Amino acid sequence: MHALPTLPTLAYGGDYNPEQWPAEVWREDARLMREAGVNLVSLGIFSWAKLQPSADRFDFDWLDEVMGLLHDQGVAVNLATATASPPAWLVRAHPEMMPVTAEGAVLGHGSRQHYAPWSQAYRKHARVLVRAVAQRYATHPALVSWHINNELACHVHESFDPETIDLWRQWLEQRYADVATVNRTWNTAFWSQAYGSLDEIGAPRLGPTFLNPGMCLDWRRFCAEAFVDLVRMEAAILREVTPDIPLNTNFVGWHDLPLINHRAIAAEIDYISWDSYPDPAGGLEQIQANALCHDFMRSLKPGRPFILMEQGTGAVNWRAFNQPRSPGMTRALSHQALARGADGVMFFQWRQSRSGAEQFHSGMLPIQGRTLAGHEHRIWTLTKQLGDDLTRAKAVAGSTIHADVALLVDYESMWATSHGGKPTRVDVMNEVTRHHRPLWERNVAVDLRHPEDDLTGYRLVIAPAVQLLSDNAIDNLHAFVDRGGHLAFTPFTGIGDTTTCLREGGLPGRLTDVFGVAVEEWIAVAPTHRGRVKSETDADPGPLAWTHFAELIHATTARVLARFDGGNELTDSGLDGRPALTQNAHGRGQAWYLAAQFDRPSLDQIIAHLLDAADVRGVLDTPQGVEASLRQAEDSTTVGLRYLHLINHQADPVTIDLKHYRGEECLTDPPMMAGHTLELPPLGVAIIQLDPPVD
Ligand code: GAL
Repeated sequence: MHALPTLPTLAYGGDYNPEQWPAEVWREDARLMREAGVNLVSLGIFSWAKLQPSADRFDFDWLDEVMGLLHDQGVAVNLATATASPPAWLVRAHPEMMPVTAEGAVLGHGSRQHYAPWSQAYRKHARVLVRAVAQRYATHPALVSWHINNELACHVHESFDPETIDLWRQWLEQRYADVATVNRTWNTAFWSQAYGSLDEIGAPRLGPTFLNPGMCLDWRRFCAEAFVDLVRMEAAILREVTPDIPLNTNFVGWHDLPLINHRAIAAEIDYISWDSYPDPAGGLEQIQANALCHDFMRSLKPGRPFILMEQGTGAVNWRAFNQPRSPGMTRALSHQALARGADGVMFFQWRQSRSGAEQFHSGMLPIQGRTLAGHEHRIWTLTKQLGDDLTRAKAVAGSTIHADVALLVDYESMWATSHGGKPTRVDVMNEVTRHHRPLWERNVAVDLRHPEDDLTGYRLVIAPAVQLLSDNAIDNLHAFVDRGGHLAFTPFTGIGDTTTCLREGGLPGRLTDVFGVAVEEWIAVAPTHRGRVKSETDADPGPLAWTHFAELIHATTARVLARFDGGNELTDSGLDGRPALTQNAHGRGQAWYLAAQFDRPSLDQIIAHLLDAADVRGVLDTPQGVEASLRQAEDSTTVGLRYLHLINHQADPVTIDLKHYRGEECLTDPPMMAGHTLELPPLGVAIIQLDPPVD
């Protein structure tokens, strides 16, 4: 299936904000879009004030004209519902809709996203706007998709205004029915926090020291639900007016992970899109983190490609220093999106602003002009080259990626872990990234799934520090191993239930059974400590080391593969001789327990070992910094077609041995194949359509 069935090709374009330009520029824009190969723009994201200049007046004339111009040039529209930046008249009429910070500051107008996510006044007016826009353009031939709001929770993810706090109490009443249940769930008996009635409950703002963890987790759930609810509210109107137009909202990727519930929002929309801004100064770490985010986004709608909705052509303007990406890097990163399952590559924004808050942010059409001093602007050259790339590669659209490995990610658990008062600071996002790295380096396709998702089809599932596991998740993981899957747990996984209450016995009973271990104690150590681990078996995973955090465990039925064996500083931890890495046969599968935060080289060896055991192989062996992936066509006319995508993120040329792959056609320019080796220049890319596999 394609991300956008009505645009069954690779989408190319960007955010288009015509309201900041006079009408003659719109005509030039549409013409230049065509010249650059643009076929999709996200239109009107911040246009509320222009579309509705006052409470009782809409002005669609300008947008009619823009939609018409775009359509005439063959550019389709991902039309925004324009709810991301409320107009000044609305703020004036409803000052109570403004967000209030934990410190009590009321945020003002003059920026964007200035509404309390639960504000009823904001919602009432947003509904009117969405309906008006939807009705106006329901049958417009340029319309191929709806863009709901923009980057939900990017700037404001919670508000402590009185209306929100009232709704919070109602939410608690719905969830728990009475105050006694709230008290029990949050264990308010401790520290004298007990409530006599729901009205006594405030929001967890600032406290002298740690706030109640159960309360904080519920507050985060309540705040995240505001965004699911906002999407649902807009989606209901859009589906009523235009049942056939696909809906999306653009996620911020990693950045908003602790703030919204992607999984719940994904269930409300038709395809996933996200905005990717890796720091070009961040080297391979950033490139890998970006790959991980693509994997995460792709996994939110299995089987349906996503769209890279925004990225920068060159510099952004919101970091402490904004090193621009080179055009080569932007091209390589655009191909990374395709390689990891995207059906489109888009930018913020089409034409760089002359003034306003983002005037120093690059665009597809640079502010300096397309040519200057007799030279074509390098960004305009890039814009056209990418248009050409995506046209050549259009056969890839609709194909998908099959992964044998899944990493488990659960936002609620992550929220709980980020609360203070832990043995040490467990950074779950970092743990996920660390476990993704060896997979990325081996070109092993990996999905990111929730512990309650259907895990059928995966051979290996790794849970990096998933602190809270629901009873359903435990059943699910149990069944996964029973059926023959390989499951690996890392420290701090499965130790609590969904209220943050610790499971007695270290691990939930049924999981103790699966892993054949019992966790006795958590051992946090100084960041300078490097612990050693010694192998116990012939299948020696090599010398291993760990840092930061370990667990004192007993093996019951598990085979001990490696034991703790001293370190530089820790004398009396009791770890020495205790199991550090175990394997337990359970049902038809295997359960592996990693009782320490292994350092990068050790984790690399352990994951290599797990991949071998689970019989999972990467797409291709490539030199460091060269990414390889395989997309497979699912369309009935192209079934069996596969596309091998290679990207050299490094500054040196590389030669790649294609091994058993036989290329039929190279979809990139210039075709760089010679026999079964491929030369990739620095930042070079190649998409090879493979011959059908020989039986
Ligand atoms: C995104 C946002 C865009 C633009 C861009 C700049 O977060 O959706 O509107 O601000 O960042 O990098």
